[in-house]
Amino acid sequence: MTAGGALPEGGVAHGGLRQEELDTLGLDRVDVLDLSASLNPSGPHPNVLVAAAQANLRYYPEPEAATLRDAIARHSNLDPSQVLVTPGATAAIHLAARALLSMGDACWIFPPTFGEYAAAAHAAGARIVERTLGELDGAGRAQGRDVPAQLAILCNPNNPTGEYLERDQVEALLLQIGAPLLLDVAYDPFVVDAWDANDLVGAGLEVLVVHSMTKLHAVPGLRLGYLTGSAPLIRRVAALQPSWSVGTTAIAAGLAALEVDGVQRRAAAEIRETRSWLCARLGRARVEVREGLANFLLVNVGGTDGGTPAFRRRLLRRGFAVRDCASFGMPDWVRVAVPPDAAARRLLPAFLDALAATGDGLGAEAPA
Ligand SMILES: Cc1ncc(COP(=O)(O)O)c(C=O)c1O
Repeated sequence: MTAGGALPEGGVAHGGLRQEELDTLGLDRVDVLDLSASLNPSGPHPNVLVAAAQANLRYYPEPEAATLRDAIARHSNLDPSQVLVTPGATAAIHLAARALLSMGDACWIFPPTFGEYAAAAHAAGARIVERTLGELDGAGRAQGRDVPAQLAILCNPNNPTGEYLERDQVEALLLQIGAPLLLDVAYDPFVVDAWDANDLVGAGLEVLVVHSMTKLHAVPGLRLGYLTGSAPLIRRVAALQPSWSVGTTAIAAGLAALEVDGVQRRAAAEIRETRSWLCARLGRARVEVREGLANFLLVNVGGTDGGTPAFRRRLLRRGFAVRDCASFGMPDWVRVAVPPDAAARRLLPAFLDALAATGDGLGAEAPA
C-alpha cells in the first residue's frame, strides 16, 4: 500500500506514436503499424467517418449532448438521467474523481493499471492506496478494511494485464470497499461473452461505469466516451462538466457508432484466435507471454540486448510500435495490441528478429 506517490514529470505515460521518436529513427508514421494504443484492428466503420466528416460546425452542439445521451440510454436500457456523455473516457475518469473525492480521501487502485486513475485521484487531492485483487480473498479482506476508501477505481479487463473479473467478483469488491466504484470497461467490447457492467447500474449498486468509444470504434482522435450510473451519482459528476464539452463532430460520429456497434463487436471477436496464435507461436520460441481476455498481450523482452527501450526501437525499425510497460512498473514487458491476422503473420518474424538482434535501434545493428 502506498499513500500519495509522485506522478511522472510531463504527465501520464501513454502508448501511441511520438513524432519526435519517429524523426530520430528516420521513420514515417504511415510505415509503422501502431500496436501501442490497443485499438480495434478492423479500424473505424466508414459510416462513423462519414458522419464525422458531414457534421455541421456552424452551430453550437447541444450543451449536454442530449440526443446522443438519449440514444446511449436506449442502447443501454437505462434512463437518460443515468448517462453522462464526455469527451473521452479519460475526461469521465477525471470528472468522477473530482466529484467523488475530497482532499485527503483514500482512493483504492489496483496496479499495474491505467495511469490516469492515479493522476485523477491526485488532481482531486486524494491519497492513492494501492491494493491487489488477490486481497479480495481470505485475510486480505480484514486488511482492506483498515484503510477505508472513499472511492475505488478498477479497470475490467485490466490494462495492461488483460485480467478480467466476472460480475460476482466485482460485486464482492463493491461490498468490501463500502464506497462508490469507478469501473472502467474501455476494453470490455473485446471480451467474448462479457457480462454487461450496466447491469450493476440497473441493480442500483454504487457504481459509475466508464465507457470509451475510442477502442472499439478505433477513433482516438474523436474524444468520446460516457459514464453510466445512478441518477444522483451522474448529477454530481455532470455538475462539474462545462456546457458544450462534447463537440458536434463527436456527437454525430457517436450516433453513427451506436448504429454499427454490433458490426464492430463482431469484428473485435475475431481477435481471440489471432491472439491465441501469437501467444502460442511466441511461447514455442520460448518467449514469456501473458494472455488476458482483452485485445492485447504482454510479452517479456527484458532479457534482450539493451532492455525494453532498445527492443522497442528495433521493432519500430521493423515497422511495429508496441507499448513499453515501464510506467506500469513492469520494465521488462511490452504490451502488444492484437493486429489483423495478416499483420500478425508479419509481426511474428519481425518480433523474433528484434528479440535476437543487438543494438539500440538508433543506428546500424549487429547481426543476430
Ligand atoms: C483503461 C483505459 N481507459 C480509458 C482509456 C482512454 O479512453 P479515451 O480515449 O476514451 O479517453 C484508455 C486508453 O488507453 C485505457 O487504457
